[in-house]
This record gives sequence, C-alpha cells and structure tokens, in this order.
Amino acid sequence: MFPRLFAFATLLLATVSPVLGQTAAQASTPQFAPCPSNFSLVRSAGVASVNQTLSPAEAEYVSAKKANVLPSAFQTYLTNVQGTNITLPSYVASILGSSNAANGSLPTVGLAISGGAYRAALFGAGILNALDARNSSSVQAGTGGLLQALTYISGLSGGSTIVYSLSQSNFPTMQDLILGPPNGTAVPGGWGGWTTAYGMLLQPVAGNDTTLNAMYESQLAAEIQGKYEAGFPVTLVDALGRNIARHFLNGTTTANFFDNTTSIHGAGQLFSSIQNVPTFVDHIQPFPIVIIDSWSPGPNITGNEIPPANIIYEFNAFEMGSYDPSLSAFAPIQYLGTTNESVCVTGFEQAGFVIGTSNDYFAGLNTSASAVMAGAGWPWIELVNGSYPQPEVSMDVAYYPNPFQGVKAGEFIDAGEAYLRLTDGGNDGEVIPLQPLLVKARGIDVIIAVDANGDTTEGWSEGTSMVNAQTRANMYPSDYPFPMVPTNTSTFVSEGLNLHPTFFGCDNASTPLIIYIADGGPAPGYPAVTNTTGDTFNETFAQAVLAQTFILATQGYPANTSESKDPEYPACLACAVVDRTRAREGIERSGVCSSCFARYCWNGTQVAVTTSSGIGGRSSMQSVLAMGGAALALSWAVLF
Ligand SMILES: *[C@@H]1O[C@H](CO)[C@@H](O)[C@H](O)[C@H]1NC(C)=O
Ligand SMILES: *[C@@H]1O[C@H](CO)[C@@H](O)[C@H](O)[C@H]1NC(C)=O
Ligand SMILES: *[C@@H]1O[C@H](CO)[C@@H](O)[C@H](O)[C@H]1NC(C)=O
Ligand SMILES: *[C@@H]1O[C@H](CO)[C@@H](O)[C@H](O)[C@H]1NC(C)=O
Ligand SMILES: *[C@@H]1O[C@H](CO)[C@@H](O)[C@H](O)[C@H]1NC(C)=O
Ligand SMILES: *[C@@H]1O[C@H](CO)[C@@H](O)[C@H](O)[C@H]1NC(C)=O
Ligand SMILES: *[C@@H]1O[C@H](CO)[C@@H](O)[C@H](O)[C@H]1NC(C)=O
Ligand SMILES: *[C@@H]1O[C@H](CO)[C@@H](O)[C@H](O)[C@H]1NC(C)=O
Ligand SMILES: *[C@@H]1O[C@H](CO)[C@@H](O)[C@H](O)[C@H]1NC(C)=O
Ligand SMILES: *[C@@H]1O[C@H](CO)[C@@H](O)[C@H](O)[C@H]1NC(C)=O
Ligand SMILES: *[C@@H]1O[C@H](CO)[C@@H](O)[C@H](O)[C@H]1NC(C)=O
Ligand SMILES: *[C@@H]1O[C@H](CO)[C@@H](O)[C@H](O)[C@H]1NC(C)=O
Repeated sequence: MFPRLFAFATLLLATVSPVLGQTAAQASTPQFAPCPSNFSLVRSAGVASVNQTLSPAEAEYVSAKKANVLPSAFQTYLTNVQGTNITLPSYVASILGSSNAANGSLPTVGLAISGGAYRAALFGAGILNALDARNSSSVQAGTGGLLQALTYISGLSGGSTIVYSLSQSNFPTMQDLILGPPNGTAVPGGWGGWTTAYGMLLQPVAGNDTTLNAMYESQLAAEIQGKYEAGFPVTLVDALGRNIARHFLNGTTTANFFDNTTSIHGAGQLFSSIQNVPTFVDHIQPFPIVIIDSWSPGPNITGNEIPPANIIYEFNAFEMGSYDPSLSAFAPIQYLGTTNESVCVTGFEQAGFVIGTSNDYFAGLNTSASAVMAGAGWPWIELVNGSYPQPEVSMDVAYYPNPFQGVKAGEFIDAGEAYLRLTDGGNDGEVIPLQPLLVKARGIDVIIAVDANGDTTEGWSEGTSMVNAQTRANMYPSDYPFPMVPTNTSTFVSEGLNLHPTFFGCDNASTPLIIYIADGGPAPGYPAVTNTTGDTFNETFAQAVLAQTFILATQGYPANTSESKDPEYPACLACAVVDRTRAREGIERSGVCSSCFARYCWNGTQVAVTTSSGIGGRSSMQSVLAMGGAALALSWAVLF
C-alpha cells in the first residue's frame, strides 16, 4: 500500500479546487503536509498508580467542567431528588450541594452505553432522557439532572452512535436528537435527526426500491474513491461509515438522505470537530469517548476470537490510543493516519468512518468464507470490492495507519504492524464500554452501566458483558480496578439483576461503584418493544421505546412486590452517586442510604450455571442485530 501513497496524493490534491465546494469524495480524502515543527506523534500515558496522565486537553476540560458546570448541575439534581420528599441523610445534600462544590470535591460520574445496534442507541437515549434536567417528567421522577452532572460518557457500537451524535449535535434533548429539531427550528446544514426511516447497518437501506438502492450504492462507492486513490485501504467500513454519517452527523435529514447535490452528508466532518461544538467549548456536555476493538494478528489469534488481551482503543475529541498497559500511549486525533513526525496526515479521522468502525460487528461474523458470504456484511463487501478490489486487504475490518509502530516492541502486540486493523467495540465480548471509565487517572467514582446488548435470542440483556468486563479487568488489576460482579449470567437472570437497577462494589471503595441498568425485559405490564432488532423504525415506535425505557430507568427495585415502583429509588440513586465521596470523607452510610444499599447492592451470592451461554465467555450468535457485537469465531481467511 505505501508505495502508492504520495503519488496519488499529489495527483488528487491537484484536482481539488479550494474555491468551489468540495464533493463528498474530496472532503473524505486525507491530506498530506509537512508536520508542524513541534509535532509529537506519540504521547506516553505512563503507568497506572505511578505516573499515568490524561492528555492536557482532557485534563483541562474536566477541571473546567468541575469548576464551572458541575456545582450548579449537582445542585439542580439535588433539588430534583429532594422534590420527591424522601428524607436524605444530611451527607447526601452536603456532598451534592454547595459545601463540596466549594472545594471541587464533587463526585465524578461516568455513564457507559453498550452496543446493540439501533436498539442500544434508543435504549441509551431512553436512559439519558430519564436523567435529563430538561425533561419535566424526569425532574418530577427525581432522576432528572444527573445527565447534566456526568463528567464522562462512553459508547461503543450502537452506543457510540448516540454518544457521538449527541455530542456533535450540540447536546439536544433526546426527542430532538432522535427526531431532529422541531419543524421550523432546524439550522441549515445542522442536525437533522437519526433518519431512522432508512437502514443504519443493513443493506439495502431503502426497502424494496431497487433503483434508489442502486443509485445510493453508487453514491457510497463514489464517496470513498478519493481515500482509495490517496493510497489508503478502503473496506466495508468506509462504505458503512458514509451511511452511518447520514444517520448521526449534521447535514442529513429524512428528506435529503439520497440527495447528493445539496449536501455532502457529513463528509469531511472530523471526529475531532466536536472540539468546536458550543456545548463542548463550554464544558456543558459530558466528555465523550468512543471505543473500538483491535483485531491483531499474532500469537493470540488461534482462528477463533478476539482475545481479551488485544488492545481496546478509545477515541476522544483530542486523542486516539489506549490505557491498556501493553500500549499506554496516544496519538493526536487530528493527525490520525500519520505514522512519522515529518509527513503529517489530516482528514483521516472522518467521524462517519470512526463511528462506522465502532459498529463493524460484521467482522465478528467471519467464521468462514461461506458465513461471510451469507452474512449481513456481504452486500457492503461486494459494494467496496466491486469498485476497489484490493488483494490482501481484509474487507471486513477498518485499516488505520499505525501511529504506534515501534512503541513498546515486544509488549505491544501491533508494534510491528503498518496498519491497525480495527473493528466493532464489542467484538471482544465487553459490550459495555467500561474500560475507559476504569482508567485510574480519570478518578471516576461511579459508573452507570447501560446494557442493551442482545444476549438472548429474543434480544434481552442478561449480564454477559459484565461477566466479560470482569474477566478482562482482572487481567490488569492495577490498571482497571473492577468491583465484584457475577461470573455467570445465570446469576444475573435468577436473581433478577437484569430487571432492575443493581449496584456493584458497594463495600469496596477501591473500585468505582457500578450502577447497572439493563434491558432485561419489557417494562412490567407492557408489550415487548425494547428488545427490537430493527434496523429502521418510525416515530411511534421510537416513542414507545423511550416511554418504556423511562419506566425501566425510574421504577427502581420495589421493596414490596405489591408496588410497581420504588418511591425511594431517586434517593437510592443519589445515595449511590455520593457513596465513594462519602467514604473518602470518612462519613458512615446512614438513613435511607443504608436501606437502599441493602436492597440494591448485589449480595455476592452466585447460583450454579444453568445455561450454556456466558460462563465468563461470550454470547452465542443471535439474529443479526440482536448481538450488536458479541464476539464470534474469526477465521480471517483472506477472502480476496
Ligand atoms: C505547536 O505550535 C503551535 C504554534 O506554532 C501551537 O499552537 C501549539 O500549541 C504547539 N503545540 C504543542 C504541543 O506545543
Ligand atoms: C512512568 O513510570 C515508569 C515506571 O516507573 C517509567 O518507566 C516511565 O519512564 C515513566 N514515564 C513517564 C512519562 O514519566
Ligand atoms: C413534597 O412536599 C411538598 C410540600 O409538602 C408538596 O408540595 C409536594 O407535592 C410533595 N411532592 C411529592 C412528590 O410528594
Ligand atoms: C470538601 O468539603 C467537604 C465539606 O466541607 C469536606 O467534608 C471534604 O473533606 C472536603 N474535601 C476536600 C478534598 O477538601
Ligand atoms: C412537521 O412537518 C411535516 C411535513 O413538513 C409534517 O408531516 C409534520 O406533521 C410536522 N410536525 C409537527 C410536529 O408539526
Ligand atoms: C451540528 O449542528 C448543530 C446545529 O444543529 C451545531 O450546533 C453543531 O455545532 C454542529 N456540529 C458540528 C460538528 O459542526
Ligand atoms: C418488500 O417486498 C417484500 C416482498 O414483496 C414485502 O413482503 C415487504 O413488505 C416489502 N418491504 C417494504 C419495506 O416495502
Ligand atoms: C452523486 O452520486 C452519483 C451516483 O449516484 C455520482 O455519480 C455523482 O458523482 C455524485 N455527485 C456528487 C456531487 O457527489
Ligand atoms: C496473549 O494472551 C496472553 C494471555 O491472555 C497474554 O498474557 C499475552 O500478553 C498475549 N500476548 C500478546 C502479544 O498480546
Ligand atoms: C421480544 O421479546 C418478546 C417476549 O420476550 C418475544 O416474543 C419477541 O420475539 C422478542 N422480539 C425479538 C425481535 O426478538
Ligand atoms: C442474595 O440475594 C439472593 C437473590 O435475591 C438471595 O436468594 C440470597 O439468599 C441472598 N443471599 C444472602 C446471603 O443474603
Ligand atoms: C410504526 O412501526 C410499528 C412497528 O414497526 C408499526 O406497527 C406501525 O404501524 C408503524 N406506524 C406508522 C404510523 O407507520
């Protein structure tokens, strides 16, 4: 690949007019230029517990947020909790209120949204909606305001679509995020909603209209031509990314989805462009992180799955890299595509491509050539392969020039690779993006883990991802402190831990406390909608999912089976939010917080395994969208 690189780049640059508007293909083409004089490609992130550091830009974001945004956000949240009239121990109010705000020791809260395709995006939106201070029902329920008090939010696969679209669209309400701004209020070229009438992951995207679908395929193929001609491998992820861009980036509405004359549909919009979004500039939105897995060749690939030792990468507004100890390094995201310190690439980090990578669950279907050809990824592969045949390129992973060549050689599995081969953030079985929130330097006290992965054949969650996250975290105990959770999904199911919010790590203040909220079943008394495996849906359906998720997110765990809802839940949630701060300040847990913890904390009792899935392992293959990224056998025969 490399020999073509510069020749084509020069050719292409010559044809781009700086005056006329760019086509989508031009805007999607990475550019080459000499690096800035003070350029540094790799930042070592140090060693957890010794000298681990965040990027200076992230540290600045978080400290400004803590100083300027969180004090009033937590005060509003406290007021909403107090509005439910449950008597709180005084420490809850003093931690959330002004006394802790004065010395900046407010809780640091992160929220993680799992994979699970559009279902996970919708379910995640429903949870955020129930925590949103702008939603009067959530305020009344006593849960509203916690969204504004989050410091971090992470997403992978289906979860990455909501996390990134929320950030780039300037942090609207969930209604406006999903449906687009109300009539008459849209900004031209701005946010247009999730365009859920058209397919997000599956081809064809436009139902049975074969003419429209064929036209659309040729648009997508044309849009990645510039990148190909510039010498970069293009795979199904590039085409998928252009479709993802029409759902989750500015510039596309349901009305202009197929029109390539008036919009370039997010081509040229970089992942790092969120740096300039007003609510990011003002530190109002939580700091967003997107997770992507690596498929690394080498000793640990034995022809069957992404081993947990493979690096989990994170993408944030400033950097891409990993705190996994065998790498512990980052590269500046706006120069992604760069592999040395003299020639710098910009424009590689197309937001659609990055979110497309996090959604590349198709790679997990690669059990054999015949499975790939029969699988949902095949139309995407044919589309790209039809225009740009590339022998020796694996068409079902994304290729990122490796900025970390030579870093920690012997320890970092991809130190010798020209490209990182990246894929769905859930393909290793850790389908809730907990890893970035466990990073010690982030000092996160509480993690809200939102699980909408389809662990069962009917699309419900039963804790598989928590089991797998624990397995991986325990490989790196000094890097990723993790509370004790069940080692099998049978315990989740038989104890109902997936049916109501469950707290993990209540009595071990050396790890973050996890508040687990799963899509484990329909809201009591309602028909099943939150297990949808649909790749398209209408507004009525979206509202039904939001409404049920609201119930699941606010019902709590009634102490009494005759109640449908725990009236103490808002207080219990606040008790969990402050609990690590309470411990640090040497205060005893008391009052309603004691009874809440007795009810909501997992008590450590495991049951015997009753199903074959998820014994510290991975879920079996579900219907195409139900799995949303759980790992499968990968045989990686080169197909082309
Ligand atoms: C590099 O220099 C530019 C100006 O030439 C400056 O804006 C930037 O902050 C510098 N970056 C670093 C990492 O020092
Ligand atoms: C961090 O500490 C490790 C181990 O003590 C050391 O090898 C490394 O050089 C240090 N890194 C930085 C950036 O200070
Ligand atoms: C809480 O108490 C206030 C004052 O007594 C009352 O106005 C309000 O309706 C109560 N709220 C709830 C949710 O019971
Ligand atoms: C912050 O203030 C609270 C309330 O006065 C106190 O309990 C806590 O110890 C202080 N924390 C720090 C880190 O100074
Ligand atoms: C917005 O406009 C569309 C057509 O332009 C119409 O179908 C829809 O009902 C309108 N929605 C509202 C909430 O007015
Ligand atoms: C997307 O559009 C919204 C307005 O709808 C704007 O506030 C936001 O900054 C835009 N995002 C980017 C990345 O340009
Ligand atoms: C597509 O065609 C099939 C078979 O004719 C039909 O069952 C299906 O409902 C159609 N789908 C749409 C979205 O029109
Ligand atoms: C629009 O898409 C068609 C393929 O359907 C392609 O031939 C054409 O070049 C595209 N136009 C622009 C401006 O990108
Ligand atoms: C391979 O896996 C083992 C066990 O999980 C791990 O210790 C080792 O570091 C891995 N090797 C590489 C090169 O990742
Ligand atoms: C959703 O769950 C219900 C009840 O468990 C089941 O009947 C239905 O088939 C499931 N839907 C999907 C798409 O799996
Ligand atoms: C823990 O909880 C489970 C399920 O709620 C219950 O069956 C078990 O008896 C409890 N164990 C203890 C030690 O309280
Ligand atoms: C919306 O979608 C649901 C479920 O797919 C379907 O039953 C319903 O008829 C649709 N409603 C409209 C207004 O199209």
